Amino acid sequence: MQEAIILVGGKGTRLRPLTNHTPKPLLSVAGSSFIRHQIAKLMDAGVEHVVFATSYLASLFEEEFKDFSQDLAISYAVEEVPLGTGGAIRNAGRLLRGDDPDAPVLILNGDILSGVDLRALLERHETQDADVTLHLTRVLDPRAFGLVPTDEDGRVLSFLEKPKTAAEIVTDQINAGCYVFRRSVLDAIPADREVSVEQETFPQLVAGGGRVFGHTTQEYWRDLGTPLAFVHGSADLVSGRATSPLVDGPSEALIHPTAVIDPTARVTGGSTIGAHAVIGAHVVVDRSIIGAHVTVAEGAQVHESVVDHDSTIGEESLLREVVVGCHSHVGAQNELPAQLRLSCGIRIPAQGVRVSGTAVACPTVH
Ligand code: GTP
Repeated sequence: MQEAIILVGGKGTRLRPLTNHTPKPLLSVAGSSFIRHQIAKLMDAGVEHVVFATSYLASLFEEEFKDFSQDLAISYAVEEVPLGTGGAIRNAGRLLRGDDPDAPVLILNGDILSGVDLRALLERHETQDADVTLHLTRVLDPRAFGLVPTDEDGRVLSFLEKPKTAAEIVTDQINAGCYVFRRSVLDAIPADREVSVEQETFPQLVAGGGRVFGHTTQEYWRDLGTPLAFVHGSADLVSGRATSPLVDGPSEALIHPTAVIDPTARVTGGSTIGAHAVIGAHVVVDRSIIGAHVTVAEGAQVHESVVDHDSTIGEESLLREVVVGCHSHVGAQNELPAQLRLSCGIRIPAQGVRVSGTAVACPTVH
């Protein structure tokens, strides 16, 4: 039986306030929770049992899957205290059902959208008789990442910290957050404390002569951990740049059948419009996620932003790379700048925020 573990216990702080009430893997991406896309991919790769390594808002995972009736067994390994990525893998290993110490176990980070062929990764692992096989991806600018150089056979030479100088950029390969572990190697991770697989387990394995291999691919890859990456990942799934068994064919937008879109509105770039949302006349929604029961009033523009459920965006307001928490109200003619994150339930009055010249007279009595 092919088994897998998905790491879903992180707090997702970079995606707050979206993650205040919902763990990152349960946020909706291209019309389904992200973890459902991952599960569909695992099932396509022949996985029959998956263990969720949960911690933050753990009970919501069981809630999400309580009626799951497809041909996949799901177990939950709950950490009372987060154990780090390595500790989480070890802890979830207790619930694996096979007892072959050489069995390959697939491990996925719960926030990576990737086109990697999981069957090919498993095959590579078997062929190399590896202890661990890591999916590696190539990035254009390696400066923001720890680097993973390999030799000509793909054997990992070292795990390097983020490069600080040009000379330290010895490769463009980075850890893509998806691994195959030999079961016995997984079971050898310490069980009694927090362990980082990236900083501790992998470097120790390489230093000790373990058979650690990289499987480098050029396929689509994105870490959805930041707001902009999150909206881009969702838009890529809708527009077909990235694929998921749960998304049918490329389209300009994914609009829930109960949403009401004015015929003069433009919804483009792989945007998603949630249930019962109302999109007014002459609105532009581009490469964005509009949650359920959101109203976007006439003439507003929403670019590369997330508006969480039950919020309203006033007439002629402009949002660019903004996250609006749930139950918020952005009044008319606001102009919200990039990287702004509005907490849940915030109210911004009409013309309250602008980054270009303001048209309104000063309301204060001088
Ligand atoms: P940020 O707080 O925004 O950095 O997000 P995060 O908490 O998700 O951390 P990060 O993106 O580094 O985590 C990578 C993956 O590992 C995600 O899928 C997390 O859910 C998961 N993860 C991180 N730490 C833990 C942990 O202690 N336990 C478990 N079970 N999963 C974890």
